[in-house]
Amino acid sequence: MIKKLFLILCSLAVLTACVKKEEDGIKIGIGGPMTGDQAKMGMDFKNGVTLAVEEWNSKGGVLGKKIELIVGDDQRDPKQAVSIANKFVTQGAKGVIGHFNSSCSIPASDVYNRAGIPMITPASTNPQLTEKRYPGVFRVCGRDDQQGKVAADFVTTQLHLKRLAVIHDKTTYGQGLADEFKKFIGDKAEVVYYGGIVQGDKDFKTVLISIREKKPELIYFGGIYPEGGLLVRQSRELGMDVPFMSGDGVIDPKFVEIAGADSAEGTYLTFSPDPNGIPTAKAFIEQYQKKYGELGPYSIYAYDAGNIMLKAIEAAGTTDGKAVMDKLHSMEFSGALGNIKFDAKGDVTVSPYVVWITKGGKFTEHWKP
Ligand code: ALA
Repeated sequence: MIKKLFLILCSLAVLTACVKKEEDGIKIGIGGPMTGDQAKMGMDFKNGVTLAVEEWNSKGGVLGKKIELIVGDDQRDPKQAVSIANKFVTQGAKGVIGHFNSSCSIPASDVYNRAGIPMITPASTNPQLTEKRYPGVFRVCGRDDQQGKVAADFVTTQLHLKRLAVIHDKTTYGQGLADEFKKFIGDKAEVVYYGGIVQGDKDFKTVLISIREKKPELIYFGGIYPEGGLLVRQSRELGMDVPFMSGDGVIDPKFVEIAGADSAEGTYLTFSPDPNGIPTAKAFIEQYQKKYGELGPYSIYAYDAGNIMLKAIEAAGTTDGKAVMDKLHSMEFSGALGNIKFDAKGDVTVSPYVVWITKGGKFTEHWKP
């Protein structure tokens, strides 16, 4: 009798587990810096993807299942990114939106590739990410060999400057972008200073004094806004009023806040065109602002990346990684940013970079190549 009861209880437990499995939603990971000095970027990702997922879930989810988001905080640290990636794998994520930093996306992509999980990064621009040719790695942003060229063209053909200082934060992205800029400058100008700073440091006066001695006409920085903002502020404090230029890593109000609006005035950066000028982005921007306030630079990229992943799963009719990757490669997606199609490497086929300028504490488009 006891044995029979035991068997019935066991069968019930198995049945409940099966039913629970059936009821489980489809898990999608979001990886990025959710805490620390780049937390604003992680939050922009989270907000963008959340908005996409809420829209899908309100219509019943995908493949008849609700979508569950799992958020992983990589703290902009490559090792932490790998541990987050492994966690997503054990948690059963069927796709990942992330990471922000190229230094995190690249090692994390090794993990996703081994596990057969597709990833779409909204923001990692270092060329190496897609040069590995992993079948499941995609990005909705452009690449640093594209934005580095636009920056170099602007400096040489519009500003006509001849003496340049190039600094970077020694990360995959920062150094990679600085090197692309330098490469495209070629012999059109002289790089009178080239060197790195340490991410997380707060005092850059020593390096700035060395730069000042070289009398550059512009400082180009490859890196992110926490250090970018301080470099601008401290260079002005040292009496250097030469133009400062950087890339997508500094386009956030936090950059102006850290630099101070007066110091940030006239600084240049490269980024994609203003989404406020893109008709397909209108509905998303309104929704986002209503819910979260000001749009972050990569919020719309995260939203589109989330939608693209879910559309590919829906089209594949399964969460099988290989089938979803095939759809990601073959389909054309219409997103808030417009139509998005990936090439064989997983890069977007169109990624127009433009030069922006900071004026009165705000970023505005300044020059189109
Ligand atoms: N574009 C920056 C990177 O790739 C955020 O790290």
